[in-house]
Amino acid sequence: MTTAPAIELRTFTTLDTARGDLLDVYAEVRAPLLHLPNYAVTAFGERLDRHGTEPGFVAVLAYAGRHPVGYAYGNTIEHGDRYWQRTSPAPPEKYTQRPAVALKEIGVRPAWRKTGTARRIHDALLATRGEPFVTLMVNPAAGDGKVHALYKSWGYEDIGQSQPSLASPVLTVMIRAAC
Ligand SMILES: CC(C)(COP(=O)(O)OP(=O)(O)OC[C@H]1O[C@@H](n2cnc3c(N)ncnc32)[C@H](O)[C@@H]1OP(=O)(O)O)[C@@H](O)C(=O)NCCC(=O)NCCS
Repeated sequence: MTTAPAIELRTFTTLDTARGDLLDVYAEVRAPLLHLPNYAVTAFGERLDRHGTEPGFVAVLAYAGRHPVGYAYGNTIEHGDRYWQRTSPAPPEKYTQRPAVALKEIGVRPAWRKTGTARRIHDALLATRGEPFVTLMVNPAAGDGKVHALYKSWGYEDIGQSQPSLASPVLTVMIRAAC
């Protein structure tokens, strides 16, 4: 597919009605990794429930008819947040002095990749925000660097490294203007 098929984007600020669809899409997006403890659907559900109660939570789901095909979610991180404390070197104040959006996850079902859907979900999520910057973490080795390159093509720049948990590889922290 080279053009974006008709999809509808829906924004959620609580998990109530979105949780089931998020888990449903996640299970297909991460199908090759679900056997790993950190990627199991239950582990994702636990993270989601935690993030869903954090300030500024927002999720955007893409629907083809009633079928959820992709998602992104994130929340606000304040000055001094663990997210920034774990980032090395310490990011410049201009990025951290005001709250920023942390994009925690983005995923699109394989059949809907390369259609512009992921970018539309990403942009729709940012359109709901007032923060000046958006940050995300990426495994620089994922897809031999292709995921990192994709985010660069979306305007993100590297600002440091972070290992959010002992089970996690060292990730690259990226940032760009949120609007
Ligand atoms: C990230 C994602 C939403 C981007 O969708 P998209 O804009 O349609 O872009 P693509 O799917 O074409 O991805 C760009 C390239 O990165 C590769 N890629 C994307 N995610 C990858 C992953 N998790 N592991 C390995 N390679 C990956 C793709 O194969 C593609 O490479 P290609 O151009 O050689 O085919 C989608 O690829 C996806 O859902 N990936 C799996 C989940 C994921 O990795 N999410 C990001 C981390 S939270």
